[in-house]
Amino acid sequence: MAGSTLEIKNLHVSIEGKEILKGVNLTIKGGEFHAVMGPNGTGKSTLASAIMGHPKYEVTEGSILLNGEDVLEMEVDERARAGLFLAMQYPSEISGVTTSDFLRSAINARREEGDEIPLMKFIKGLDADLDFLEIDKSMATRYLNEGFSGGEKKRNEILQLMQIQPDIAILDEIDSGLDIDALKVVSKGINKMRGENFGCLIITHYQRLLNYITPDHVHVMMQGRVVKSGGPELAHRLEAEGYDWIKEELGIEDETVEQNA
Ligand SMILES: Nc1ncnc2c1ncn2[C@@H]1O[C@H](COP(=O)(O)OP(=O)(O)O)[C@@H](O)[C@H]1O
Ligand SMILES: [Mg+2]
Repeated sequence: MAGSTLEIKNLHVSIEGKEILKGVNLTIKGGEFHAVMGPNGTGKSTLASAIMGHPKYEVTEGSILLNGEDVLEMEVDERARAGLFLAMQYPSEISGVTTSDFLRSAINARREEGDEIPLMKFIKGLDADLDFLEIDKSMATRYLNEGFSGGEKKRNEILQLMQIQPDIAILDEIDSGLDIDALKVVSKGINKMRGENFGCLIITHYQRLLNYITPDHVHVMMQGRVVKSGGPELAHRLEAEGYDWIKEELGIEDETVEQNA
C-alpha cells in the first residue's frame, strides 16, 4: 500500500473541562516530515496524546482520520495496529516487560495471527537496529525504560520506531535532554525511516533537531491552534527571532500561560 494519510480537522480537545486545543488542522501524508514548534504550554503534547487516544484528553469537536477511517472510534491498541506510533515526551517505565519482549509483541500485533515474525529474523533485525543506534545489546533484556537514562529512553523510542515500522509517527520532544552525539544518532534513525510509506510529525521546542532532520513543512502552534505554516526557513526564523513577531503579525494577545507543561 502506498503511503498513509493522517488528517486532523478542526480538533478541539479539553483536559478536565478546560479547552486546550481550539481547532487544530493538520494533514500528514506518507513521505512527508512535518515539524510542529511552539512555546511551552501551547498544546503540542496534548495534540500527540489526543491522536493516540489518552483517556484524559477529551475530543469535543473535530475529527482525526487515518486513510479516511475514524481514529477517534478506535481503541488505543487499534490505533497502533492501524499504523500510528507515538514517541512520548516522557516515556513510561514498564516493569516486568523486557525491551525485546515488548518489541516482539508490538511487531506481531501489526501482523496477522499465524504470521508472527520468526524468532531468528526478529533477533537479527533487532541486533542490526541496536548497532545502528549505537545502543548496548544489554538493553534488549532490560525492562522497558526502567532505570534508563533520559538519553537511553529517547534512543529506545527510536529503536521502537525502526522495529515497528509504523505508517505515521508522532515524535514528541524526541530531542529533549539529548547531548549532541545522542541527538545525531536519534536523527540518523529518524532519517532512515524516510520513504513514501512513512509520514512523520516531529514536535520540538527547539530548532536544533531540525539541523539534522529537514522537515518538508513547519507549523507554529500557539494557544491551541496552528497559527502559521511554512517551509524549513520558518524554523530558522523562530530560532533567530523567537515567537513575538508571529504574535504581532497575527495580532495574538498574550494570555497567562500555565508553564507547568
Ligand atoms: N494531564 C494534564 N492535566 C492537566 N492539565 C494538562 C495536562 N496535560 C496538559 N495540560 C495543560 O494543557 C496545556 C498544554 O499542555 P501541553 O500540551 O503539554 O503543552 P506543550 O506540549 O505545548 O508544552 C498546559 O496548560 C498544561 O498545563
Ligand atoms: Mg510538550
